Amino acid sequence: MSFQPISLTTLDFNPFQRIGRDWMLITAGDDAGVNTMTASWGGAGTLWGEDVVTVYIRPSRYTHQFVEAQGRFSLCFFDEAWRAQLSMLGRVSGRDRDKIADAGLHVTWLDGIPVFEQARQVLLVQTLYVDTLRADCFTDRALLDKCYPQRDLHTVYVGKVLGAYEQ
Ligand SMILES: Cc1cc2nc3c(=O)[nH]c(=O)nc-3n(C[C@H](O)[C@H](O)[C@H](O)COP(=O)(O)O)c2cc1C
Repeated sequence: MSFQPISLTTLDFNPFQRIGRDWMLITAGDDAGVNTMTASWGGAGTLWGEDVVTVYIRPSRYTHQFVEAQGRFSLCFFDEAWRAQLSMLGRVSGRDRDKIADAGLHVTWLDGIPVFEQARQVLLVQTLYVDTLRADCFTDRALLDKCYPQRDLHTVYVGKVLGAYEQ
């Protein structure tokens, strides 16, 4: 299989299904190293006249420092057959194990951004805006206490979609 570029306007991409239910891998790195993590919180749409995605990464994730260092990352989407691997990649940290090899995934590069050969759909992303969620901005305090008992609020990345690929 090989990745073919596809227009965002013809992409079969329902964010509620793809991100929230199917899950995705957020991946960043360079020749010196690549890390990935599973994510199911995020969105896709339009902001500042750009096609954007928004992802939320806790600072404790190893992936956080790769995204910070590169300013570019990929979102990879997989067939259902990869569910167990995505689950593992969302439990284990790349600090502790070569979890990419453990999952049987192979890194390849699109426009200098790491992606996985086995992904069905890929979005390449350039960070435009970074911020940290604020406890005092929650209008629903129960949600804050439920999701952030340690107050380790997510870093928010709004990124421009540089390109979409499918295979
Ligand atoms: C289904 C699923 C969804 C997840 N979504 C997110 C998310 O949106 N943001 C986040 O920071 N962590 C999320 N995680 C947790 C990270 O994937 C997990 O902590 C991972 O081990 C981090 O790996 P790393 O330390 O190698 O970066 C999710 C985990 C699972 C299983």
